[in-house]
This record gives sequence, C-alpha cells and structure tokens, in this order.
Amino acid sequence: MNILILGSGGREHTLAYKLNQSKQLGQLFIAPGNAGTESLGTNLNLSLSDFDQIKEAVLQHNINMVIVGPEDPLVNGIHDFFLSDIKLKNVAVIGPQKLAAQLEGSKEFAKEFMLRHNIPTAQYQSFTVETLSDGFAFLEKLNPPYVLKADGLAAGKGVVILNDLQEAKAELNAMLSDKKFGAASSKVVIEEFLDGIEMSCFVLTDGKNYLNLPNAKDYKRIGEGDKGLNTGGMGAISPVPFADNEFLTKVQERIVKPTMDGLQKDNISFVGFVFIGLIKVNNEPFVIEYNVRLGDPETEVILPRIKSDLVELFKATADKKLDTFNLEIDERTATTVMLVAGGYPEAYEKGDVITGLDKVTDSLVFHAGTTTKHNQIVTNGGRVLAVTSFGNNFKEALKTSYKNIDKIKFENKNFRSDIGFDL
Ligand code: AMP
Ligand code: GLY
Repeated sequence: MNILILGSGGREHTLAYKLNQSKQLGQLFIAPGNAGTESLGTNLNLSLSDFDQIKEAVLQHNINMVIVGPEDPLVNGIHDFFLSDIKLKNVAVIGPQKLAAQLEGSKEFAKEFMLRHNIPTAQYQSFTVETLSDGFAFLEKLNPPYVLKADGLAAGKGVVILNDLQEAKAELNAMLSDKKFGAASSKVVIEEFLDGIEMSCFVLTDGKNYLNLPNAKDYKRIGEGDKGLNTGGMGAISPVPFADNEFLTKVQERIVKPTMDGLQKDNISFVGFVFIGLIKVNNEPFVIEYNVRLGDPETEVILPRIKSDLVELFKATADKKLDTFNLEIDERTATTVMLVAGGYPEAYEKGDVITGLDKVTDSLVFHAGTTTKHNQIVTNGGRVLAVTSFGNNFKEALKTSYKNIDKIKFENKNFRSDIGFDL
C-alpha cells in the first residue's frame, strides 16, 4: 500500500512515524513534508490547494491512499475531487467530503447541526452585515465576556473574546462591515461564554462505524499560565487526567453518539477524524467546536499511544470495517512540548540551525517547522519541534520532555515550561 500524507507539521511527521512501523506500508510520500518526514518517506513539493497537481503525483507514484492532515483541502473538497475523477475514485481518502467538512468550515453549520441533534453547546445567534444592529442588540442582552466567531476558516484566528461591550460591538463591526477576516467573517456567530476547562475527544469513523481514539488536552496560549496570544498549540497531554469514567460516559452519551447518529440522520457521509473540542462546566460537557481532522499537537500524543497497526486501521476505515477492528491503546500518559521560534505567534525568524537532536534520549522528536539546508536542519516555521515522552503520569512524562528540550538548541528557542499547570 503506497500512501500519501498531505501536510507539513508535527501532526504529519507523527502520522509518517506511525505508518512506518507497519509491515503493510509500501512507499510513503509526504507533501510538502518537513525535515523530519524526509527520513521516513519521500517529500513531494506540492501545493495543497492545487488538486490537479496532487492528482498527477498520485497517478505517477501509484498511490493507493491519501491521508489529509489539515482542514483546508477538506473544506475545499479534495475528497469530492477524488470521487468525481475516474482515475482517482479508487484511491482511498482519509478525510471527509466537502459537506461534512462544513462542521469545521462553518461555525453556523456546526451550531445548526448541534441544535438539530440536541448536542449541548453554548447558546448563540448569527449575524451578517444586514443584521448588524440586531447583533449589537444581542450583545447588549448578553453578559460579558462576549464570544465572537467568524463563521468561516480564519487560520485559527477567527474567535475573539472580549470583556467590554463597546469593544465587542466594534469587533462585530470590524468583522462584518470591514471584513476583518475576509469572506470568513461575512457571517459572525455570537455565543454565550462558557466557563470551564477544555479538552478534546477524537473519533475515527468509516461512515458507518466509529472508534474512540485517545483524548487529549492542548495548551493554546503562547504564555505561561495560559496568558497571551493564541497559537496553534504549545503542548498536549493524553489521556486527560480530569476526564474520569463518569464524565467520559456523559461525553459518549450526550455528544459522541448523537454526533455520529446525527451524521447518519442528515445523510452526511463522513470518513475520517472527528475532533470534538469540549469544555467541562460544572462536570457537564459542552461542545466548543468540531474539527474534521486530527489536532496538532494533540496528534503527537494520541498516535504514539495507539499500539495497533496504523496502516491496518486506515485500511479498515476505507473498507468500512471499523466494527471489527481491535484498537489497542497504551495505558501510559504521553506529553508533548512544542519548541517555537522566538516572536511566534507574531513575526519570527526562519533558517536558524538546530543542533542537539542526536543527543535526545527516551523522547520522540516530531518536526513541525523545519527544513534541510546545506545538510543541516534549520527552522522553517513558528512551531519548530514537538518533544513527546511517555510516563506513568503526566508529570513523569513531562520531566523527560523537558530534560531533552535542554539538549536541543536553536537561536531564540521558546517553549512553555508549565504544560499541565492547571491539572
Ligand atoms: P474555537 O476556534 O471555536 O475552538 O475557539 C477557540 C477558543 O476560544 C476555544 O478553544 C476556547 O478556548 C474559546 N472559546 C470558544 N468558544 C467559547 C465559548 N462559548 N465560551 C468560552 N470560550 C470559548
Ligand atoms: N491544537 C488545536 C488544533 O489543531 O486545532
């Protein structure tokens, strides 16, 4: 089985690492990949928005399966593109079609889905530029903080939470009238603020059956104590210590099952990962968001905990046989800590030489923003490396990650030394 992974982050390096452990893997390709994936397969310099270019590569390399890492190609319909092409329709795609991808691609679509299927989530209303004044009136009725969400994809920046009513009104105006996030904010969802602790659940579905993958908690803010700007994610822990059996049963009954049943009832075909961002409020779970892919850096802790053969798992997904798949999970805790370039998530340098990777012991290092230049590994993005370790609990695992982080050097290296601080 020849497999192509689309993407270039730590998530995709982790997928490549796990797929490489399978005897069933033929050739592995990663597009565009990074310095880490280079040693596990062949990096292809493809644009993820150019489906014709991807098609050519798939045919040229006899690729049998495509695993889509990020959301954009899914929301743009890459799976539909494969299904509608006579030469590609037998190539398996792990990742949902365009309609299902709207669960991530449109906040309003996701909200309406949850409402229709009685899935607990924050109260909301959505507004366009034509209903701006209704939006102001709605904000006046809410208590602060105010949660404003651009309806469409905005590279993780489309959610703004403000304490001040006037600032919230100005933000709504900026999103709708000034198109702050372009077309993504031509519609804005305003919702009730939920106060609690967040975690994520991951489900893999073949469109008929589904399996629960390990859960995880990520740390999104750049600063210690969850302060400062949002990032793609600065670290993660799996499993989530506060998610006890009682809580996870509620998550299954009130959220996972109704979500999977809802897809069936609505006739929305979904093959791939459902990533459910949850918040626990007074011991009750609510959905914050759906994503239609794996999380990053959550992947760097959940995939290493999967003991089953990943090629077999994806084959079972493509063949709609997940009901007979025996998923084995490592009971230990995995943690990952992201090393980022100084300045990230604002402006940062690229091209700084990374050293010390050969000195790492007892941790897995997954590359994110890295590339090879003159036979050296250099930084090539804001999030640079994820250092993953196992332990009997998260503190033990983190100790190993931090021990190894000390050995890895690059100019202006930054990381959070307080992952798990709130647990
Ligand atoms: P989203 O992109 O929808 O996941 O939102 C980004 C982040 O904003 C989430 O991870 C939460 O931390 C926060 N957030 C979103 N919606 C709410 C809400 N209704 N109440 C509290 N926090 C929220
Ligand atoms: N770490 C959150 C995400 O991948 O969206």
